[in-house]
Amino acid sequence: MEVTFGLILSSMVVVASLTWAVKLLNMFWLRPRKIEKFLREQGLSGNPYKLIVGDMKDFMKCMNEEEPKSFEISDAHMPHVVPYEHRIISKYGANCFYWLGPWARLAVTDPELIKEIVRRYDVFARPFPELNRTLGAAGILCVEGQEWVKRRKILDHAFHLDKLKNMAPVMGLSCSMMIQKLKAAVATSSEVDIWPVIEDLTGDVISRVAFGSSYEQGTRVFELIRQRVDLIMPLLQFFYLPGFKYLPTKSNRKVKAIRSEMKSILRGVIDQREKATPKDDLLGILLEANSRFIQQEGGMSIEEVIEECELFYLSGSKTVASLLVWTVVMLCSYPEWQTQAREEVNRVFGNSEPAIQGLHHLKIVTMILQEVLRLYPTNAVIYRSSKEEVKIGSLTIPAGVHLSLLIGLIQTDPKIWGDDVNKFNPERFAQGVAKATNNQPAVFTPFSSGPRICIGHNFAMIEAKLAIATLLQHFSFQLSPSYKHAPFSLYKLRPQYGAPLILRPLH
Ligand code: HEM
Repeated sequence: MEVTFGLILSSMVVVASLTWAVKLLNMFWLRPRKIEKFLREQGLSGNPYKLIVGDMKDFMKCMNEEEPKSFEISDAHMPHVVPYEHRIISKYGANCFYWLGPWARLAVTDPELIKEIVRRYDVFARPFPELNRTLGAAGILCVEGQEWVKRRKILDHAFHLDKLKNMAPVMGLSCSMMIQKLKAAVATSSEVDIWPVIEDLTGDVISRVAFGSSYEQGTRVFELIRQRVDLIMPLLQFFYLPGFKYLPTKSNRKVKAIRSEMKSILRGVIDQREKATPKDDLLGILLEANSRFIQQEGGMSIEEVIEECELFYLSGSKTVASLLVWTVVMLCSYPEWQTQAREEVNRVFGNSEPAIQGLHHLKIVTMILQEVLRLYPTNAVIYRSSKEEVKIGSLTIPAGVHLSLLIGLIQTDPKIWGDDVNKFNPERFAQGVAKATNNQPAVFTPFSSGPRICIGHNFAMIEAKLAIATLLQHFSFQLSPSYKHAPFSLYKLRPQYGAPLILRPLH
């Protein structure tokens, strides 16, 4: 009996090991080779697949070489922001691929193809949902199909323009606090690194706007997110390896501890809210819309609401911080635009605090923000992966292939934007986006396009206009001699060496 049991057990172990061996062989060798053959047969080029690592070693080497570099403001910076894709396209031409470990990645630079890919949300999903979940960017970002349709309907309520209008005074409060902070800093030194100040502002805005009365817990969540992003960023290169996140490394343990503290804070806030009278902040509107959906067609669970709150934090702060810091840097580098924007703000608001009612009169400020989003798109690349074999344009894309949609390269392509493509020239947008893009809106998509267009784009533009208008009212600014221009994409496009400015209070 014992012999038979031992035999069964060892046979099971052998079968399980063989199954795993076949799976790994397929994942790391047979499948990538088959996909490579398929892609080459269609005329696509790229480096030959290397076992397990693919192009990752070269990719990391390239990133490490680029990371410390700095530039002249008028230089083309996109080759530095998406360096590996840029190198591979220069080597193999526009239709090319590279290997993120065993995953083939197509570099896509055709705007019409990108438009079609983001439109087909039924077949193109966001890749690596687990990685996003670990980063705290889960929620609606990581769901697909009918689940996405349901969540988007619920979340759309919270981001409706009418609701955002009620949140603007709270954003204004955070802007005033930033000005107080800057005035205090300038009293001791006129040189201030504006980057951390802007990061604090956008964190403060999202803490107040998302959580309103629960602002203090919100601030702690924000701090935890910051810690988690800092921990995970250096590990991104390993995340494509199956099972990496389960390894009991020090960072993985810390990430897990941070996650559980964050969840328990958010759960506490939501529990309190469910018992209290409804509030007009993002969380309040979300909970209210969700309870209506629960009765009609099934809403979100508490875990899912927590995920959405985490996502608000991450996508609602880093993105707007990136837009704001590049706007300030551009206004310093092109002082004639700083003067024009300040004159406009003074015309519209005089000495009053900028408020939502006047924002639609800020034509020059809008043109400036659009030109910044063209040159410094917060997300220079959008990623997708095909769920099934799909034909798109003249290409057939096999299931499981990833796509890098290189919007940053399109928005700085001289063939589209002319020889002065790297010059900051908001005048391009004077007659609106249609004119600026020669009626090809697909060439300017900083918030993406199609059904999964950024849900927070109105929120972001309101916040950015209020913050820039408030800054222009109170200070004139120029770059400090110690400023080094080094846009680098670490999760979002950020200034690698900060943004030290010389600030002069205006009154
Ligand atoms: C300058 C500011 C911003 C920029 C440039 C930006 C850009 C983008 C882009 C390019 C996408 C599409 C990503 C993809 O398809 O993979 C996106 C999606 C998204 N953004 Fe933003 N974003 C900004 C601000 C915000 C803010 C303030 C929030 C929320 C408070 C937000 C929430 C989201 C969400 C939830 C999605 C996913 C939408 C979906 O899948 O249906 N974003 N954003």
